[in-house]
Amino acid sequence: MPDIWPADLGPVICVVGARPNFMKMAPILRAFSNNQPAIPTLLVHTGQHYDRDMNDKLFEDLQLPHPDINLEVGSGTHAVQTAEVMRRFEPVLDEKKPSCVLVVGDVNSTLACTLVAVKKGIPVVHVEAGLRSYDRAMPEEINRILTDQIADILYTTERSATANLTREGISEERIRFVGNVMIDSLLSNREKARDPQETLRTCGADPQAIASTQGFGVVTMHRPSNVDHPEVLRSLLGVLKEISESLPLVFALHPRTKGNIERFGLSDLIDTPRMIMLPPQGYLEILGLMANARIVLTDSGGLQEETTALGVPCLTMRENTERPITVDQGTNTMVGRDIEAIRSHTRETLAGHGKSGRVPELWDGLAAERIAADLGGWLIARHQSKQSIQ
Ligand code: UD1
Repeated sequence: MPDIWPADLGPVICVVGARPNFMKMAPILRAFSNNQPAIPTLLVHTGQHYDRDMNDKLFEDLQLPHPDINLEVGSGTHAVQTAEVMRRFEPVLDEKKPSCVLVVGDVNSTLACTLVAVKKGIPVVHVEAGLRSYDRAMPEEINRILTDQIADILYTTERSATANLTREGISEERIRFVGNVMIDSLLSNREKARDPQETLRTCGADPQAIASTQGFGVVTMHRPSNVDHPEVLRSLLGVLKEISESLPLVFALHPRTKGNIERFGLSDLIDTPRMIMLPPQGYLEILGLMANARIVLTDSGGLQEETTALGVPCLTMRENTERPITVDQGTNTMVGRDIEAIRSHTRETLAGHGKSGRVPELWDGLAAERIAADLGGWLIARHQSKQSIQ
């Protein structure tokens, strides 16, 4: 292995677009710069998320460098957003001539950038590959399936993801089980997590609301299937209001959910001092809230894994999960939109019978280092073999 990166081998373009990408990319960039040889990178932000709460605050918390390029695509329908990313990403590849493009997760930006790069003959690396909910109504499932089919190297977080890919006919030499980069971020920031009462105070909420020995629960909810239909949203908010009578609940409200609560006239369902509504939270704030919660109720993909790593019981308000290890080994229980299941599992958890789980294999804080060592070696070997042919 050379001591320095070959001068004629381009940088790795690392793509982020939306909030859940940021905690995955931060440890990767760090590991690339610490690798021997250091792997040069260019950070491209598609601009899918752009609000301070959804974007800048997380960049600061995670100490992510300012993006080298921002495509500023903003919001839109899936077609418009995906197409805009593609249109604006292509000239970046022409100009920067990267050695490969690295994408993470399953958002629209992940698929859009993959499609552009693959068609230009540039290798694509997908981190967090192979997760499957087997629910094609989820836009993320479409993004995952298509990205994995055409990407060159697929790094997985759990063995079931490797098995999914093999079943889809993807050859084993493209797949590497390396662990979970999101847990790298969690472990390296655990000590810096913000005190929950301080978080409430900063947001102008009363910290006393969660001061009792009884503790508090944390809620996040933003999936279109949960928040885009008035009746579904009404029934979920209804049961959460009921739960808040025995345990104060802290909500971190996604802009989509906030907008729909107002649009559907459901504000009265959250109008109680026991349901504390906060704007989308920074990384250190949500980490502090989760780590100190007695229970987390969510429809997020990331929180299912983070609560498993923290050993905090999690009820996932979805019919399926693409992260089955969090159920089989971790603290996660699927409750769907079944109000009675939400009620009874919450009751059991608060009675002390919640899942305690164990931390899955290779969720050890070193996944990004494994990726850096593997990818650096692969790119250099590929480069050398091309040169020897010429
Ligand atoms: C996206 C991801 C989802 C991820 C979520 C985390 C896809 C298909 N979905 O969903 O997997 O869990 O991010 O948040 O890529 N908005 C703002 N400010 C912002 C960004 C968005 O107000 O900075 C509002 C806009 O009204 C926008 C809506 O949120 O239309 C939805 O944003 P979008 O990026 O389309 O999808 P998310 O629901 O955030």
